[in-house]
Amino acid sequence: MRKRIAILPGDGIGPEVCEAATRVLTEIGRIYHHDFEIKKGLLGGAAIDAIGQPLPEETISLCKQSDAVLLGAVGGPKWDTLPGEQRPEKGLLGLRKALDLFANLRPVTIFDSLAEASPLKDDIIEGVDLLIVRELTGGLYFGEPRERRNEGGQEIAIDTLVYSRAEIERIVRRGFELAEQRRGVLTSVDKANVLESSRLWREVVDEVAKDYPNVEYSHMLVDNAAMQLVRNPKQFDVMVTENMFGDILSDEASMITGSLGMLPSASLSESGPGLFEPIHGSAPDIAGKGIANPLATLSSVAMMLAYTLQMPDEAEALQKAINNVLENGYRTADLTENRESALSTVEMTDKVLEALDKTTTVS
Ligand code: NAD
Ligand code: IPM
Ligand code: MN
Repeated sequence: MRKRIAILPGDGIGPEVCEAATRVLTEIGRIYHHDFEIKKGLLGGAAIDAIGQPLPEETISLCKQSDAVLLGAVGGPKWDTLPGEQRPEKGLLGLRKALDLFANLRPVTIFDSLAEASPLKDDIIEGVDLLIVRELTGGLYFGEPRERRNEGGQEIAIDTLVYSRAEIERIVRRGFELAEQRRGVLTSVDKANVLESSRLWREVVDEVAKDYPNVEYSHMLVDNAAMQLVRNPKQFDVMVTENMFGDILSDEASMITGSLGMLPSASLSESGPGLFEPIHGSAPDIAGKGIANPLATLSSVAMMLAYTLQMPDEAEALQKAINNVLENGYRTADLTENRESALSTVEMTDKVLEALDKTTTVS
């Protein structure tokens, strides 16, 4: 099968983990006889350095012409002093908007062999399998006005949290649909005791719920949800929430698996290419050292194979290869106390490729 894949490595460890993904995709193409046409594009700081803006038109059209997009990460200290509109992160936000990627799926699954890497106790994390469904194109990230101004001699800064009923409805529906395909439990997370947008969110959830009688749903305030994720993460199946809450809760949830370097994500629209990226950032503290964990990005490739490229066997083979590598005790530095035995990004990728070759037999 012929598929066009755009890869946007971005900044910091982005290019390092995207290199791992390119090697794995190429190998999957070879094993399964797919013709993956991979094209690279500029985004974030890399694009600022090359052409003076974080989201080149060319990158948007490359993505629109692709079947799927893989992204590393954007941002870093070099660009931190730029005005908000010109920052690398603005490039990523603009791309999410341009592709209408309103549904961000962030699965949190525990690998049994990694239990010791999590700061939480074994009996709390064993068997955790939850999915955070984060609204990705609305809320505080995009609301207007967003500005600084002087008011009565005081400097003030404004961000706006705005959601329309339609925006809430489409993400909540996606949450219910996903819950139906899983264990049938949905937790909607909001701050309805304080925020008007959350009160509308709740109303919409109650309405949409009528179409999904098989899903058992409840509302939870976000501060409580943050606590419950640590106290008893097994209670959750699907959590649906607005943009900013989903951002924060997913970083928190990554520690259930032991490292931010483990969590993948899929950002989907109603139609059009999906974008797949690790939930972590450009990790400036370890960039260039060759020690970044590539597994969040490789699991994002598995999500790309499953969700957008309609290649379930390939997705399963890759996920199995990642499991095998962890079961065999291979760890990058973020996953082990034993620094001497830690693998580099390239070595970890080699192990995944070996496991792929060993477990896959395709004629
Ligand atoms: P970060 O996720 O980059 O790093 C947080 C910590 O986790 C760091 O100690 C880092 O070394 C570690 N870490 C992250 N990914 C890792 C991996 N794959 N392997 C091993 N360790 C890993 O968050 P931050 O430091 O708050 O942000 C750094 C920059 O990244 C900022 O400019 C931020 O805006 C950007 N960022 C981008 C994205 C994205 O592109 N999607 C996401 C988050 C943050
Ligand atoms: C993420 C990141 C982004 C976000 C930033 C870099 C814009 O933290 O993908 O989780 O907040 O959405
Ligand atoms: Mn984030």
